[in-house]
Order: sequence, then structure tokens, then C-alpha cells
Amino acid sequence: MTTNFAVIGATGKTGRRVADLLEAEGRAVRRLARGTNPAFDWERPEHWAAALQGVDRLYAAYVPDLAAPGSEAAITRFAEVADEAGVQRIVLLSGRGEDGARRCEDILLASNVPATIVRASWFAQNFTEGMLADAASTGVLALPAGDVREPFIDVDDVAAVAVEALTGMGHEGRVHEVTGPESLTFAEVATILSETTGHEIVYVPMTFDDFHAAVAAAEGEAVATMLTELCRETFDGRNVLPTDGVAAALGRSPRGVRSVLEDAAATAAARS
Ligand SMILES: NC(=O)c1ccc[n+]([C@@H]2O[C@H](COP(=O)([O-])OP(=O)(O)OC[C@H]3O[C@@H](n4cnc5c(N)ncnc54)[C@H](OP(=O)(O)O)[C@@H]3O)[C@@H](O)[C@H]2O)c1
Repeated sequence: MTTNFAVIGATGKTGRRVADLLEAEGRAVRRLARGTNPAFDWERPEHWAAALQGVDRLYAAYVPDLAAPGSEAAITRFAEVADEAGVQRIVLLSGRGEDGARRCEDILLASNVPATIVRASWFAQNFTEGMLADAASTGVLALPAGDVREPFIDVDDVAAVAVEALTGMGHEGRVHEVTGPESLTFAEVATILSETTGHEIVYVPMTFDDFHAAVAAAEGEAVATMLTELCRETFDGRNVLPTDGVAAALGRSPRGVRSVLEDAAATAAARS
């Protein structure tokens, strides 16, 4: 009998890679996002059951963030709907060092559906595909991160750990806390970005208030408040040390941020 997989957030950074890896292994994957058919929208729980019908194993990236208001109620209901739909295994992406995310992890792990958490550090791909991708064109990497160090992780490694948790044995009830191999400051990342892109990129540390004002102007008050609180929480030094989570799950070392940024720059150069 075929095991049916589904990926929520399948057009995003992790979900796209998880779906690609599963399909490369010959597995049937239902890619879910707001614009797919069936659609999956975290804000429309009345449609979740239809999207999960016939699904055995599920990868979920929660949007906007497990630490955002409303996430605990959403994950509680999500686990109930998945259980009723007959889902046998859920792998949930979580963020490292976030108290709100930890509460959602606990809710899912205590639910009826066997679950695994992939709790990841900051993505290296935030600088190439995510919210900081415009640093290469503006020359400015502005964040309220001071000189804190972060063990940036390659999203390909996050996806590989998620696929192992979806398809391998013995992952139920476990938390895979995954990071890259070394911790760098944002100033050091800006230097690597300058070297790999050939354009000077400077890290500009911001105050939390200035960061809040900048995000509010672009994306509104609610997003600004959530992101500023996340930065306050996770840039206090709690996430500095790398873990051995990737090696423990995959039996190999994680990829470093320089290698990710070199590859992204080479791909961008080949396209232009
Ligand atoms: N960035 C980091 O450094 C980092 C680190 C650790 C954990 N995380 C966690 O990663 C998660 C985000 O995952 P990601 O980076 O793989 O995704 P992403 O690149 O941010 O893309 C978001 C995905 O979710 C979909 N989406 C957006 N709004 C949605 C909604 N209301 N309902 C259902 N789907 C929706 C998007 O597709 P459509 O727009 O097409 O619907 C897209 O597929 C968040 O929970 C974040 O906390 C991020």
C-alpha cells in the first residue's frame, strides 16, 4: 500500500525542499499551501479536514510563527483534525529558543498523533531567499542583533532531517534541535555575503524600537510586534551554541553558511 505524504507550506523554503526530497525517493506527495487544490490555510480550519483526507504522514511549517498569538489554539485544533483524518505521523518545524513555540511543540507531542519536532536555528537561506535577501541589492543588513552569534543552518539540512523523521524509524516523540556547524555574528555573515556576491554589504545593528518602526511601516503593526518580540527573545545569547542535531539524525555534518552563500551566489550569477 502506498504511504501518502503531505507537506504544508510546500511553496516555502523548507516545504518545497521536503516535498522535492520525498518525490525524489518516489513517494506520493500532496503539496499544500493557500493556493493549492486542495488548499490549506492556517487561518481557515474549516478546510483542514478536506486537505488532510487520505494523508498518512505530514510535514508542517506553521505560518506566521509558532510563537505568534493564536498558535497554541491552532496547533491544538490541527492535531485533533489530523487525528480524525487518520494521519499517522506529523513532523512540525519549530524555531529554536522561542518560549511560545515550545508550548506548541508540547501540545503536539502530547496529542494522539505520533509527532516529531524539528527545532531549527536561523536559516542561512534567510539571506538569499528570505526576509534579508534584499541585503545583496541594498548593501545593508540591518537587524537588532547586536554582536550576538548564531549557528545559521542550511535549509537543505533542515529538510533532510524532516524527511528522515517522516520516513525513518524511532523518531516519534523526539525533538531534533538542529543548527549549522559554527556560530557567526551578523557582521561576519555580511563579510561573507560581500565576498560571495562581489558587492559590499554592511551589517548595521538597530535598536529594537527602530526595527519595530521599520517593519511596521512595511508590513503593519502586528507583524512588527511579533518580529520584534522574536528578536528580543532569540538575540539574547540563548541560541549561540551549535548542536549536534543534524549529525545525530543524519550521520553526517551540517553544511556551513559560507558554502550555502557561495552556492547561492554562483546560481544567481549563472542566471544573470
Ligand atoms: N526563517 C528562519 O530562520 C526560521 C528558523 C526556524 C524556524 N522557522 C519557522 O519556519 C516556518 C516557516 O517555514 P518556511 O521558512 O519553510 O516557510 P516560508 O519560506 O516562510 O514560506 C511560507 C509557506 O507557508 C505558506 N503560507 C503562508 N501563509 C499561510 C497560511 N496562512 N496558511 C497556510 N500556509 C501559508 C506559503 O505559501 P502560500 O503563500 O502560497 O500560501 C509558503 O509555502 C515558521 O514557522 C518559522 O517560525 C524559521
